[in-house]
Amino acid sequence: MAAKVIDGKALAEKVRAGLCAEVEALRKKTGSVPCLAVVLVGENPASKIYVNMKEIACEKVGMKSRKIQLDESVAEKRLLDEVKALARDPEVNGILVQLPLPRQLREQVVIESVPPEKDVDGLHPFNMGRLLAFADPLFVPATPKGVMALLKEAGAVLDGANAVVVGRSNIVGKPVAALLLKENATVTVCHSKTGDLAAHTRAADVLVVAVGRPKLVGADMVKKGAVVIDVGTSKMDEKLVGDVDFAAVREKAAAITPVPGGVGPMTIAMLLDNTLSAFKRQKGLL
Ligand code: GUN
Repeated sequence: MAAKVIDGKALAEKVRAGLCAEVEALRKKTGSVPCLAVVLVGENPASKIYVNMKEIACEKVGMKSRKIQLDESVAEKRLLDEVKALARDPEVNGILVQLPLPRQLREQVVIESVPPEKDVDGLHPFNMGRLLAFADPLFVPATPKGVMALLKEAGAVLDGANAVVVGRSNIVGKPVAALLLKENATVTVCHSKTGDLAAHTRAADVLVVAVGRPKLVGADMVKKGAVVIDVGTSKMDEKLVGDVDFAAVREKAAAITPVPGGVGPMTIAMLLDNTLSAFKRQKGLL
């Protein structure tokens, strides 16, 4: 039997409807609404699209957004000054610096310049450290938070499950691994230096793939009845494709996310959710 296709678009819609109602209630109660500031450096086409999508998503749920566009060649000091100004601005509740950054900018220095209480990306070491310590981070990174919501939606059992994460990025792989571990899964993290990738993935009850290599995971690499979350997004012939061979794997898995329409919409919904909680915390409502 073909796998259940986990509908990220529908779930994101549900989350957004809830956010919309809460934003309206907060507007009535406080006279203001949450505001997300997004800093975009340079002209990376994918980043430009993501930033636009974030702005539109804010508007749709009644939140404000502010875009700061800086030149590709901007000096690190100038970028840090911009972030500092946003950090001080009481009208701004959440700050996101779109990644990747041009080479002259040290990503970790920029990430650490965002105050933890406005770090809606959840990438500051204060939040990442607390995530790993199971000690109430102020924010969980949006994509990993979306992955966990999709697993819950699919009814995946995590307690005692073998969970395999392919990819070890700070944005996805590492935080997903921490969240799965918190849910009592036995977690394996695979990466580009992993010897026999298929041997690991075949043992996975829950498989999360976040690499950015089209069709890296075929049906022969998936256990029958596994739950598969595909975080990959690559452009192929102008089409968005994931890291998993969807058509083949859906015949073997119990549940699988499509690309597009799986993790992507959830990432933005979770970013908005983080922005809402930043607002509430800053207003003393959390
Ligand atoms: N670039 C791709 N995904 C992300 C994300 O989740 N946050 C930021 N800041 N940049 C990204």
